[in-house]
Amino acid sequence: MTVANIAASKSVHPAIVRLTHWLNAMAVAIMILSGWQIYNASPILPFSFPSWMTLGGWLGGAIQWHFAAMWLLMANGLIYLAYGIASGRLRHRFLPISPREIVGDLAAALKGKLAHDDIAHYNGVQKLFYVGVIAALILVVFSGLAIWKPVQVWWLTAAFGGFQGARLVHFLAMSVIAGFVLVHVVMALLVPKTIRAMIFGR
Ligand code: HEM
Repeated sequence: MTVANIAASKSVHPAIVRLTHWLNAMAVAIMILSGWQIYNASPILPFSFPSWMTLGGWLGGAIQWHFAAMWLLMANGLIYLAYGIASGRLRHRFLPISPREIVGDLAAALKGKLAHDDIAHYNGVQKLFYVGVIAALILVVFSGLAIWKPVQVWWLTAAFGGFQGARLVHFLAMSVIAGFVLVHVVMALLVPKTIRAMIFGR
């Protein structure tokens, strides 16, 4: 084994995963903040988001941010998924997910006894969270397409129960993603070495 191989084998996250992770974080932040501004123009629930929590200044500006970040989110997400599937990393990191492992790890986490020695190995709760947010991101993209092009992809819009149904699913998927980000950032800050590994690879 060469020195380069040894160095590479110690990397917790390959460069492509780190790059796509941080680009994804940026795209998601832009999409959520501009999405809240778009929502405010025609709320589907009995509340609006305070303007300091939104991006774009007004409906037209927010739509421009939303569509610009949409291409980044989709292209970047496809690269992450294609690499993860082709390399076997997704399967290796996130599967299998067993209910027993999730319950056991959740109980240990609540007691403050969850070990973080090996950050290259995700526990049951992390696996569930990461697979869940990836599924929510895929759902948010498809429900967004159904809202954007309801005539061209009428079958997709119909699958969501129509235009208003797609809007609701889009909002709910956004809520899951925003909730994930909140918990995810707090957890990462509690174990700073995981942030170091997601920036520098180790
Ligand atoms: C904004 C949307 C975000 C999403 C959707 C997201 C999603 C994910 C996913 C799916 C993973 C697993 C990646 C893999 O191993 O293939 C991950 C890992 C990670 N993320 Fe994020 N992330 C986001 C933002 C952030 C932010 C803002 C931080 C900074 C604190 C952060 C810190 C980390 C760290 C440190 C890991 C490694 C996890 C670990 O070792 O437990 N993420 N993220």
